[in-house]
Amino acid sequence: MGTQTFQRRGKGEWMEKEQEPNRTPPASQPFRLVACALLIMGLFLIAVAIGCCYVIRFQKTDRMKIEKLELRKDGFTIKNQGGDIIFVLTFQSGVLDLESCFQEKEMLTCTRADKRKIRLIIRAIKPKRAVICYSISWEELIVDTVVEHKIFWGDAHWYGGYEMSVQHWPIKLPGCQEPMPFVTSDVYSFRNSFGGVLERYWLSSKAVAIKINDSVPFHLGFNATEPSLVFQARYKDSPYGPLLEEQSFPGLYYHVCVAPDVTSAHKYMAQNYFKKPLKVPSEEMFRFPIWSTWALYKKEINQTKVQEFAHMIRKYGFKASHIEIDDMYMQNYGDFDFDPLKFPRATEMFEKLKKDGFNVTVWIHPFVHKKSPNFKVGIEKHFLVTQRKERLPAMVKWWNGVGAIFDFTNPLVRDWFHAHLEELCLKYGISSFKFDAGETCYLPKEFTTFQPLLDPSIWSRYYAEMASPFHELAEVRVGYQSQHISSFVRIIDRDSVWGYELGLKSIIPTVLNIGLLGYHFILPDMIGGNFIPNKTEGAVDIPDRELYIRWLELSAFMPSMQFSIPPWLYDKEVIEIALKFTRLHESL
Ligand SMILES: *[C@@H]1O[C@H](CO)[C@@H](O)[C@H](O)[C@H]1NC(C)=O
Ligand SMILES: *[C@@H]1O[C@H](CO)[C@@H](O)[C@H](O)[C@H]1NC(C)=O
Ligand SMILES: *[C@@H]1O[C@H](CO)[C@@H](O)[C@H](O)[C@H]1NC(C)=O
Ligand SMILES: *[C@@H]1O[C@H](CO)[C@@H](O)[C@H](O)[C@H]1NC(C)=O
Ligand SMILES: *[C@@H]1O[C@H](CO)[C@@H](O)[C@H](O)[C@H]1NC(C)=O
Repeated sequence: MGTQTFQRRGKGEWMEKEQEPNRTPPASQPFRLVACALLIMGLFLIAVAIGCCYVIRFQKTDRMKIEKLELRKDGFTIKNQGGDIIFVLTFQSGVLDLESCFQEKEMLTCTRADKRKIRLIIRAIKPKRAVICYSISWEELIVDTVVEHKIFWGDAHWYGGYEMSVQHWPIKLPGCQEPMPFVTSDVYSFRNSFGGVLERYWLSSKAVAIKINDSVPFHLGFNATEPSLVFQARYKDSPYGPLLEEQSFPGLYYHVCVAPDVTSAHKYMAQNYFKKPLKVPSEEMFRFPIWSTWALYKKEINQTKVQEFAHMIRKYGFKASHIEIDDMYMQNYGDFDFDPLKFPRATEMFEKLKKDGFNVTVWIHPFVHKKSPNFKVGIEKHFLVTQRKERLPAMVKWWNGVGAIFDFTNPLVRDWFHAHLEELCLKYGISSFKFDAGETCYLPKEFTTFQPLLDPSIWSRYYAEMASPFHELAEVRVGYQSQHISSFVRIIDRDSVWGYELGLKSIIPTVLNIGLLGYHFILPDMIGGNFIPNKTEGAVDIPDRELYIRWLELSAFMPSMQFSIPPWLYDKEVIEIALKFTRLHESL
């Protein structure tokens, strides 16, 4: 024992040494000094070792937390107050380097993924008692890259997004889809596209809501098997344009908000992210049915038929918000007047309709065909959307042929178009319009507009805004950030079928889903469907009787009722049911 043994011990054996003084007999002064020095050194080493250990542990951590969000290298999860995982997301386009992440207060920042520089910022915000939002922003610093995040639905129900051709409530994803531009389209003609009413918003039954920032070049994909949604930001091969050509670094920005219950989650999101209607459409439109000429007469409309239609409405004792004169009252698509052959005495007809208490609206669309005199006007004044890098107007195919499109991003075009609509109103006493189309699918693939459209769906907003001055009795069928226009939004044309694909069963889900996106004045399309041959189940000459009655009864509980195929084409019983349910609707 003693000095010698002690001195021979190496630094590494300090643990053993520490206990030794107890066992050693009282030592001399120099011995004590050495022991003391070694003890201090030992303590220092412990501190360093623990420190090192801590640093290594910190850097090697496989997760970081900010409020209830837990970030891993391949994604994040969010828990609710009760500790249940209610949101799961994975990073598809890059695995994070967690060593590049640091935390300051309520903000997590990471700067590297897959050995490249990126900027991921996650911020926790508590905008309101009981609501917590996470603002996520992933920016790439390389042009032509893609940012992709995948949201797993888990066992929650999800709502929102867009109008679908096969609509269920909650949403049922239709199979598998690679990310594609999240822009408005006509789901009647293009059944696998995103609908004419869409918002970058989803809500889950677990009280989680997501809003994708308006500035994102947003593409959406999905996989029904998992099920999941894929959020993608990209400029390459995409109709989105960056603000500045040289700044086409894609960035994916969104807010995920969590509330104690679904209602509070949705209320918070709607208040913060949706525009609000400034006015309300005419009470007549809620109270009394709209009578459209479309499903009944299709394009074979003429003066005799309109007069006959009005006569029959009165004869059977029905009321009307208005009569809507639909497709082909004009000579050419793009004219703003009645075809004198089909409507030889239009003024007289309108006077009679007015005397009989009918307000009238007419059909309007954004196209102009070559035969219309307005085509020439459009070319001369540069009023038409052009092919990119060309001066000639872009000709697009729509359901009635091929035409050019008025460029509603140009204020001069809007004024000119509006002046023509006003003129129609003055000339005939027309009250308002059915603004048809307006989806981006009827823009050419590569186009130039007066006002560049960085997000193509803004096109639909410009178009819908045309209805604003006529909102009292107007009808539009597109909606994108346009809840404020205060006019009725019609769900896309229904077929005369029972099912979820644009049939009777799709009506309640579609009305609810569009309502969730902030559009409250919803027109559930024509009773009995459009009766398009080969898209009709049952009867041959008119929609199936049973289908028609059910449709009629359902419509009575909707914000508005719209007839075209009239009840008197069936029998006395159907007329009585129709009278009963229109009266019931009136009283609601
Ligand atoms: C998100 O959108 C808002 C307006 O819609 C915009 O002011 C803001 O800059 C956007 N955020 C990002 C990170 O782009
Ligand atoms: C969809 O999800 C399933 C289940 O996770 C997976 O097996 C399949 O590969 C996915 N499909 C695509 C195209 O990613
Ligand atoms: C309207 O069409 C019907 C049926 O084709 C025809 O009998 C009637 O004469 C037409 N009226 C006008 C004004 O063209
Ligand atoms: C309906 O027509 C009447 C009579 O022309 C008119 O006074 C009224 O303003 C119209 N209603 C709407 C909502 O345009
Ligand atoms: C409708 O169906 C019939 C028989 O099934 C077929 O002969 C006809 O070509 C179809 N018409 C259209 C427009 O698809």
